[in-house]
Amino acid sequence: MNIAIITGASSGMGAECVKQINRAYKKLDEIWILARRLDRLQSLSNIEGNARIRPIAMDITNDAHVDALIDCFREVNPQIRMLVNAAGTGIIGRFDDESLEDELNMIDLNCRALTAFTKICLPYMKKNSRIINFASAAAFLPQPEFAVYSATKSYVLNFSRALNKELKDRGIAVTAVCPGPVATEFFEIAEKHHSIPAYKKIAMVRPAAVVEKAINDSRKKREISVYSAAMNAFRFFTKVLPHSLFLYFWKEA
Ligand SMILES: NC(=O)c1ccc[n+]([C@@H]2O[C@H](COP(=O)([O-])OP(=O)(O)OC[C@H]3O[C@@H](n4cnc5c(N)ncnc54)[C@H](OP(=O)(O)O)[C@@H]3O)[C@@H](O)[C@H]2O)c1
Repeated sequence: MNIAIITGASSGMGAECVKQINRAYKKLDEIWILARRLDRLQSLSNIEGNARIRPIAMDITNDAHVDALIDCFREVNPQIRMLVNAAGTGIIGRFDDESLEDELNMIDLNCRALTAFTKICLPYMKKNSRIINFASAAAFLPQPEFAVYSATKSYVLNFSRALNKELKDRGIAVTAVCPGPVATEFFEIAEKHHSIPAYKKIAMVRPAAVVEKAINDSRKKREISVYSAAMNAFRFFTKVLPHSLFLYFWKEA
């Protein structure tokens, strides 16, 4: 059975991936969609497309839930043609103001669970399969008042690029998606204590556009997917200018 697995599928870019992958890929038998909110997952069950949608309600940071999924893999022995690691969260605010629990949960979800999912899916992936990992443009530069989040996304970006190189001999391509601000529920949690700066609101884009580019870049086996001219310019300048310069002005802002 050919399947795709999509984490963080109950909203935002994960849900958009479910819709677009189901329309774009003809050879998938099932798409397994994962998140904690079952009602949201079930509302995607009848979307237009080729594959059957299998909603799986689980907390992907919970080891017992992950073990149950591993057992299910053993039983079904699927061919995982595509893994999309979209689940992720961020909190805006000074590190010394935010709770330890929130910061550690962010690391668990953005880094630990993404690494675990990649590890448990790989044995079921063959030549020409794809992994799409949601990093962020926040990975390009250390971000004061988004410190842990941007560090987790640097992890995702570096991990994905290294893995893409390692897996070339198996014909599996890994694409790190690095959007700037995207209009999703992400900000309901991110802005719990502090709002995002106005210039980020101006750069806000639609999830459908980011996902469409991500899927195209994944098809082309590109290691990084960056949507919008503004974010490509941001990436360019963070590569050619010293980060200390950005951080100086950030502090002065
Ligand atoms: N929005 C942006 O501006 C932006 C920019 C750059 C990168 N990103 C990244 O893009 C990815 C998608 O973000 P988004 O904007 O689509 O956010 P979103 O709408 O808030 O979606 C996050 C998803 O993660 C799931 N999730 C959270 N905790 C989970 C857990 N413990 N177990 C299972 N699922 C969990 C949520 O589902 P449940 O709550 O139902 O579990 C939800 O489906 C994230 O990795 C984010 O960091 C976002």
